[in-house]
Amino acid sequence: MERTTEGRQRWRYRESTEPEPLVERVPARDAPAVLVTGGAGYVAGPLLPRLIARGLRVVVLDDLSRGHTDTLPPSVELWVASVGDRRVLDEILGRGDITAVFHFAGDSEVARSVQDPMGTYRHNVAEGLRLIEAVADHGAPPFVLSSSASVYGSATVSPIPEETPLGPENPYGETKRVLENALRWVGEATGLRWAALRYFNAAGAEGALRERHNPETHLIPNLLNAARSGYPVTLYGTDYPTADGSAVRDYVHISDLADGHLLALDHLTRGGAPGAFNLGSGTGHSVHEVVRVVSEVTGRTLPVTLGPRRPGDPPTLVADIRRAEEVLGYKARQSDIAHIVATAWKAMAS
Ligand SMILES: NC(=O)c1ccc[n+]([C@@H]2O[C@H](COP(=O)([O-])OP(=O)(O)OC[C@H]3O[C@@H](n4cnc5c(N)ncnc54)[C@H](O)[C@@H]3O)[C@@H](O)[C@H]2O)c1
Repeated sequence: MERTTEGRQRWRYRESTEPEPLVERVPARDAPAVLVTGGAGYVAGPLLPRLIARGLRVVVLDDLSRGHTDTLPPSVELWVASVGDRRVLDEILGRGDITAVFHFAGDSEVARSVQDPMGTYRHNVAEGLRLIEAVADHGAPPFVLSSSASVYGSATVSPIPEETPLGPENPYGETKRVLENALRWVGEATGLRWAALRYFNAAGAEGALRERHNPETHLIPNLLNAARSGYPVTLYGTDYPTADGSAVRDYVHISDLADGHLLALDHLTRGGAPGAFNLGSGTGHSVHEVVRVVSEVTGRTLPVTLGPRRPGDPPTLVADIRRAEEVLGYKARQSDIAHIVATAWKAMAS
């Protein structure tokens, strides 16, 4: 365990190539706090300044296995530890000031989950359950889970509503289903209020907050890297039962996801019913369509090679977002595909 608020800030300012620190309003020392696991990751990034702008103190718990500290707002209290470390959880949650928990931390690499299912179970399920248990033991503040469209597998309907029977087709999706079910049962037993936000394909950038996974398995950053470097990118799957044979996905801007998290918190805080909500754009784009958009936005011809389907990748995943719109007030305002690509390209170039 390592508590590094001071060290992190000093380190941040030494990095001359990194973006300017985010301008933020520093919350009062006695302001209510929220715990954000995986807060140094891609999707959590834009939520942090929004929470701080609400006057909340943000406590990030992240093992930094994949996260980045250079874009964390300076006032964030950072705990570098595993999300399943009960000693650390007791210390953070035992203070009594945590009013909500956002659980982003997890291993989201589908291909790795297929190769090493136990690794993904250990990471997502074993550690996630320890977090849920600790939260329930410490007064059960509202809990927002980063779930995934992977819980649906190859759904036969499109767009997919939340009540569609779940049928994950890879271990990663299964781990999200396990966590959702655990929340449901723990909620019934303890009164824990929870929301499972089933993101579709998180994409785009907000300012300097952009996708920096290693290895990068997501389409848009890989296409942008190809546009910049000239090295070819492989497109997986040419024989899907879709209009052009490539996989169709719903790309949702990380700014819309961040707004969706605040809306979910508001919903739970006003006593709204726990449950699952799709967060997507409501529109599907094929891989070839995205290649065209990236080519237009960057003004470069993309070197691509065609490869076989990846195990665990369903043909089509498009969100029905009506429940999130009606219950939470969610709107996919920033999720136009050209805007997503343009923000990601700008952030990569800056
Ligand atoms: N990116 C997407 O398109 C997408 C789609 C659906 C769901 N999700 C889910 O959203 C969440 C965030 O995804 P992301 O793309 O930001 O991933 P990310 O890898 O960028 O961020 C995850 C963060 O969690 C941290 N972390 C991982 N395991 C940890 C552990 N055991 N203890 C403490 N910290 C840990 C990492 O260091 C990283 O900072 C994940 O749970 C993922 O499954 C992402």
